[in-house]
Amino acid sequence: MAVDVTCVPFYGKRCDIQRIRKGADVTSSAFRGALAALTAAATPRKRLRLPVKAGIEFLGNGQYLRVMTPEALLRTTCTREAVPFVGEITLLVASQPTGLWDIWSASERDAPPFWVFPWAGGQALARYVLDNPRTVRGRYVFDVASGSGLVAIAAAKAGAASVVAGDIDPGAVAAIRANAEANGVTVTARAFDLMTDDPVQADVVLAGDVFYQRELASAALAFLRRAAGHGAEVLAADPGRAFVPAAFLSPLARYQVPVSTTIEDKPVKDVTVYRLARELAPEAEST
Ligand SMILES: C[S@@+](CC[C@H](N)C(=O)[O-])C[C@H]1O[C@@H](n2cnc3c(N)ncnc32)[C@H](O)[C@@H]1O
Repeated sequence: MAVDVTCVPFYGKRCDIQRIRKGADVTSSAFRGALAALTAAATPRKRLRLPVKAGIEFLGNGQYLRVMTPEALLRTTCTREAVPFVGEITLLVASQPTGLWDIWSASERDAPPFWVFPWAGGQALARYVLDNPRTVRGRYVFDVASGSGLVAIAAAKAGAASVVAGDIDPGAVAAIRANAEANGVTVTARAFDLMTDDPVQADVVLAGDVFYQRELASAALAFLRRAAGHGAEVLAADPGRAFVPAAFLSPLARYQVPVSTTIEDKPVKDVTVYRLARELAPEAEST
């Protein structure tokens, strides 16, 4: 048995592996050797036949991922599915149980691919925006820590004048572009670190599921308060993560959101959509 691998040069010596059939033993020395040769050669459209061992469910490992571009990861490891709680929108998501998430845990990449799942917070915020289009209609919207782009796509569908989606992860930027295009909406995807980058001019700032780590939650709150201080309406949604800054948030809506048990402890999460209290924005505080 063998698999076809097509090699396309990308940024010098990196390769975009377009297809590795499920069942390939990518941990074998034969596979690694061929892959190393491919990466070094980086010959356009070169095709190799690689030996594989049958019956292996695992799709890849760190070696495989290191030579993949975000676009190739999306294309080769994700399938397009309707979002459970937001059926109007489809996203490229990791197929379970042998999808990208599994590969990632064996890889040496820094951050897991948050952008291959619609998170509980994002689903609730997207639902809220679609059901309350006046929140964004005709307004300039920034979706921060956008992941797959779900909330940004919802804002565009709900009639926002323009939507920018930012995320620190280049994989997310690729996912946002692919997902927006597939949903027939215009979203400007950009690399954005909420800890260091200047605020984006927006009437509405949206943040789905950003309070899951202490440092990120604290930086996200500071960022959102700055945005509110500059006059933006700020909406966030959270499924009761450990670091949600409840004292700064006023609940607007609650939803029971179906989620993947690959990433959550139970199949349905209780998610609250909040508005950041304007009176607690920094500029308002000082007056
Ligand atoms: C749990 S996911 C939520 C994604 C999306 N908003 C949703 O609800 O589906 C958190 C996202 O925050 C992004 N992120 C983490 N640290 C960040 C930072 N410093 N600046 C911008 N984005 C960040 C991650 O890359 C990830 O896409």
